[in-house]
Amino acid sequence: MIGLLLLLVAGDAETAHALIRRRCVSCHGAEKQEGSLRLDSRDAALKGGDGGPAVVPGKPSDGLLMRAVRHRGGLKMPPKEKLSEDEASLLERWIRGGAPWAAPAASSPQRRLGDAWSDPENPVRRAFGGARLDLWSLRPLADPKPPPLRHEEGVHGDVDRFIRARLEDAGIPPSREAPRGVLLRRLAFDLTGLPPTPEEVRDFEGDPRPDAVERRVDRLLASPEFGVRWARHWLDVVRYADTHGFERDEYKPQMYRYRDWVVRALNADLPFERFVRMQIAGDEMVPPEGPRDAADADAIVAAGFLRLGTYDSTGDLFQEQAKARNEFLGDLANTVGSAFLGLTISCANCHDHKYDPVTQADHFRLRAFFATASKKDDTVLDGPAERARIAAQHREADAAAAAIQREIDALLAPFRGTPKTSEADAAKLLDEAGKRALKELGERKAAEERRKPPYTTAYSVRNTGGKPPETRIFYQGDFNEPREAVTAGFLSVLDPNPAPAAPGGPRSALADWLAAPEHPLVARVFVNRAWQHLFGRGLVATPNDFGFSGSAPTHPELLDRLARDFRAEGGSLKRLLRTLVLSATYRQASAWDAERAAKDPENRLLWRRAPRRLEAEAMRDAMLSVAGLLRPCAGGPPRWPPVPQEILDAQPGILETHSDENARKRLQGWYATTEEDCDVRSLFLIQKRALALPFLEPFDLPDPTVSCGKRDVTVVAPQALHQLNSGFSARVSRAFAASVEREAGADPAAQVRRALERAWSRPARPEEERIGRRLAERAGLAAWCRVLLNANEFVFID
Ligand code: HEC
Ligand code: HEC
Repeated sequence: MIGLLLLLVAGDAETAHALIRRRCVSCHGAEKQEGSLRLDSRDAALKGGDGGPAVVPGKPSDGLLMRAVRHRGGLKMPPKEKLSEDEASLLERWIRGGAPWAAPAASSPQRRLGDAWSDPENPVRRAFGGARLDLWSLRPLADPKPPPLRHEEGVHGDVDRFIRARLEDAGIPPSREAPRGVLLRRLAFDLTGLPPTPEEVRDFEGDPRPDAVERRVDRLLASPEFGVRWARHWLDVVRYADTHGFERDEYKPQMYRYRDWVVRALNADLPFERFVRMQIAGDEMVPPEGPRDAADADAIVAAGFLRLGTYDSTGDLFQEQAKARNEFLGDLANTVGSAFLGLTISCANCHDHKYDPVTQADHFRLRAFFATASKKDDTVLDGPAERARIAAQHREADAAAAAIQREIDALLAPFRGTPKTSEADAAKLLDEAGKRALKELGERKAAEERRKPPYTTAYSVRNTGGKPPETRIFYQGDFNEPREAVTAGFLSVLDPNPAPAAPGGPRSALADWLAAPEHPLVARVFVNRAWQHLFGRGLVATPNDFGFSGSAPTHPELLDRLARDFRAEGGSLKRLLRTLVLSATYRQASAWDAERAAKDPENRLLWRRAPRRLEAEAMRDAMLSVAGLLRPCAGGPPRWPPVPQEILDAQPGILETHSDENARKRLQGWYATTEEDCDVRSLFLIQKRALALPFLEPFDLPDPTVSCGKRDVTVVAPQALHQLNSGFSARVSRAFAASVEREAGADPAAQVRRALERAWSRPARPEEERIGRRLAERAGLAAWCRVLLNANEFVFID
């Protein structure tokens, strides 16, 4: 009995101590001693402040502490928010029990705490009273065996076994395989974002080899267009844009290097572990004196991931650096949460998470990894030899400029009565010849400056040296209300200890944790994204939220199987995609079926392929491709398409450049080239946060300020009007018609047929040919082309 009591008091002591640390010590501790009172040790609390002892052990009503907490006798503590009744009575109980002080952390050897399931002292266990620990996504990855099937025919692999087992249970037969033309169109769009040519379709349809499908899949995966397609998906997740956002929305001229790196990384099938590490801590992989080779330069560019958030430069005017820093760090914790962990870490910015086993401290523990990261807009990418060459040229130009400056000084010397006479004042006293000579010298000096070759640079980050800045929890997320200090650490539910030091730096430790094969969230989240882009819907329908507010997986065993194999096989995205698209499940026809639909109306069990509308970019790219307008592009600075003046003038930031020289210098404008120059894949067009491109905008572009795991797919009237009437559609249709005329010759029937097979990847039916000919006769071939690009068959992929 006594033992039990002691245990209770000891538990209370620790909780009371934590409460005081959290709510009192910011004003009554080492930094501040309001009322001359410190509450960070037992002795100090007994001694008290100006008004006498704060705590009298055993007698709660005698010390000032309980009076202050209960708002009795004038004192109201904490000054802003009263403690809850539970908290107040906890303190009261603790004082009545003798106010034992939990051993100070520093003097007791730190015990490593266990995860929330095994260790009652785990802070998440304590914060939520042991609840919330049954979240499925935190369980270790299982190693499930594919279930046995009653019918094995048509099964290509384990993916199908997991899917079919559930279909068998529900009594739903799978659909037959899609016809080859349909399948190739689907594969081409899913893997490269572009349609196949009619010749590729015919070639595939006539290919009798048993590995005909594998050959097409391998070719598509090896195409450079693969990286362009899949980079788009990742850029949505990391909220990529080429501008800063907010009203000024300045252009970031080097940001595109990150976009190009993603394309290259995907095309090279960079192992997932490295893909994660380079984005979180690429700069820490490079020696401080600068990059040694192209791989180092890539690592610096990849860390541009940390520079993709929005930034309000007007904050500099109002000395709001603390606010901007708070937003920078908060945004990084939130984005790592969404992109890699699939958890809404953002919801723990201001309070403990309301649903998931994530405390507010966890949000700030994640932030602390970035505390030393300082933004660097001009990180040099050139290798050592190139750096030395450029530096030598800079030195040469500097020396020449200095020599010219000496000539200027000599010229002006007689007119500089006192060293206080400025260069400009002295110049006024020169005669005409002297002024001419001075002007010429000035021009020569400026020419030397211009001779300096620029370094190749990127937006990245660099760790500041010295002691890392302290990270404190902000009460209700308000950076003016700092509270308890935290050290960098992972999700406490899994590991509540301070993160171990990693040789590269603090973010390398975070990368180690994220990339660890046993991490329960990271691989599940990534594999689910891949599944979603192929099947239209993830095994978890909420790709950025694997918490209690998100959807549970429809096929949890399959998800774990895929995540495990993905990690075991080196984290190859191409290998994963290959497995998925070769499954019978992926290859099913899309036909709807009343009997099957009655049992599974939403196709959760995947008894057919659900038709999908192309995304904005894929639609535009496909139109350009079909019309023969699409130009090859290997990346580089974004292209700026012409946009109607009234749209530009509606943007306050752009408008400002007409009247304000500084706004022009800040690159707030719109730098259009020509339409033809912009006939490249949409990934390479400018992504300006404040202005979505008018011909992409109607088709559900994501909000580029926060991570987007899944785009909306709406079907609304403005899309059809746009597709039919926009200047872009008209231009593409005319070019399409001209190209078809060149290809198909003078025969109008051949033209109509050729246009259809180019747009829809299949031969025209007689009825379609009749309609097309009638239309082309009356309104021209371009009108027929425009109809083809507006049809469901173009916009939806079966
Ligand atoms: C935001 C700062 C702040 C926080 C947080 C805060 N205090 Fe205070 N505290 C003060 C100030 C300021 C005084 C000085 C008296 C006054 O101005 O009211 C004070 C005075 C006191 C005193 C009287 C000291 C004396 O001997 O005169 C007690 C007791 C006290 N606080 C207890 C607490 C407790 C317990 C907590 C946490 C539950 C707490 N305070 C949190 C600012 C704070
Ligand atoms: C900018 C600060 C901030 C962010 C971010 C934030 N909240 Fe809150 N939230 C508050 C404040 C302040 C309260 C009221 C005080 C409290 O309950 O802690 C609150 C209260 C709540 C409540 C009601 C509390 C209750 O017990 O009834 C819920 C539910 C909630 N938040 C959910 C969320 C979710 C979900 C997210 C993420 C999508 C989120 N919050 C993000 C500040 C925030």
